[in-house]
Amino acid sequence: MAPMRPGREPAVPSLPAGAGQAAIELVVFDWDGTLIDSTAPIVDALCLTATDLGLPPPSREQARQVVGLGLAQAIRHIAPSASGEQLAAFIDGCRARFAVLNDELRPFAGIVDLLEDLHALGVPLAVATGMSRSGLDRALARLNWVSLFAGTRCGDEGIPKPDAWMLRDLCDTLGVAPSRAVMIGDTTHDLGMAAAAGAPGVAVSYGAHRREALAAGQPAALVDEVAQLRAWLWPRLVAAGRDLPPGSHWRAVCVSADLKEGGDGVRFDAAPPGAGAPGTTARRPAFVVRHEGLPRAYLNECAHVPVELDWPAGRFFDHSGLYLVCATHGATYRAADGSCAGGPCRGRGLTPLKTRESNGRVWVAFETRDA
Ligand code: FES
Repeated sequence: MAPMRPGREPAVPSLPAGAGQAAIELVVFDWDGTLIDSTAPIVDALCLTATDLGLPPPSREQARQVVGLGLAQAIRHIAPSASGEQLAAFIDGCRARFAVLNDELRPFAGIVDLLEDLHALGVPLAVATGMSRSGLDRALARLNWVSLFAGTRCGDEGIPKPDAWMLRDLCDTLGVAPSRAVMIGDTTHDLGMAAAAGAPGVAVSYGAHRREALAAGQPAALVDEVAQLRAWLWPRLVAAGRDLPPGSHWRAVCVSADLKEGGDGVRFDAAPPGAGAPGTTARRPAFVVRHEGLPRAYLNECAHVPVELDWPAGRFFDHSGLYLVCATHGATYRAADGSCAGGPCRGRGLTPLKTRESNGRVWVAFETRDA
């Protein structure tokens, strides 16, 4: 998984509760044009390789239409006059161009945060792509995403899209009924595969195929940006029993190894994205420590006078390693729930934040700006 980026600010809208939504238990993504911003380079590779081989180059729109299919299938569509020898050379030529390109391709804005948050919730994730197995494996390794996905299927190891095979095989292997999975993609091939497999399909309009063509495929949702995709997914994940408070999102604040039982804490800013007046910075100091094996997070504000507790920075526990203590006048709080255990806090406690620990990281539920 990609290294954690402290302080990231995922664009998470305020979300409705999950009641009444069909539950989603498996999220399957297409790769090119859905997770990775690669449509234009793929179109370039198809057009330039045709020219290299002396074949009539497809228009860019024709090339866009075949993105998402298996490579041989795509080339047959855009170069129907190619001989068997030319087809083989076309495949080799495209693969050589893709191999160079792949090292430069990046995920769309918001995708990394979305994948990390889904993974932290324990939602099984998968990829169904027309690209080759070797190409996908190389890309997953380069992005450090191998452990993110519970399953992957590629166009060259079965029957490519829009056949149902990739999606059905993922559902069978992961033990999820297709009706409880969702296929997310940027092409009508993805929607066709979803329909053939009996799964809802969600279309993203920022990839290869035009919005009108995607709408004609009657997706369960048609979204224009990653934040909208997140907004569509969340209530359905809540309906599936995922532990996510409405109006909040999880953010990783440290790796698990940073927190030792009764040891120093990790400070972080719990302010929601965009908080504060324009041009100002609204901080909400917070911290997390480990107590009785679990991460415990609180706002870093003493109940006596609103100052931060720790001095030196990160030192929250007293000498016993059981109580949190304010360095200013010695108010003492129980680490398990932040309640006052003695001193000038007198019946008032720390403000707790919801935490969870998974995949070697400690996550805190942050309020969204609109929550
Ligand atoms: S400010 Fe914390 S005990 Fe007084």
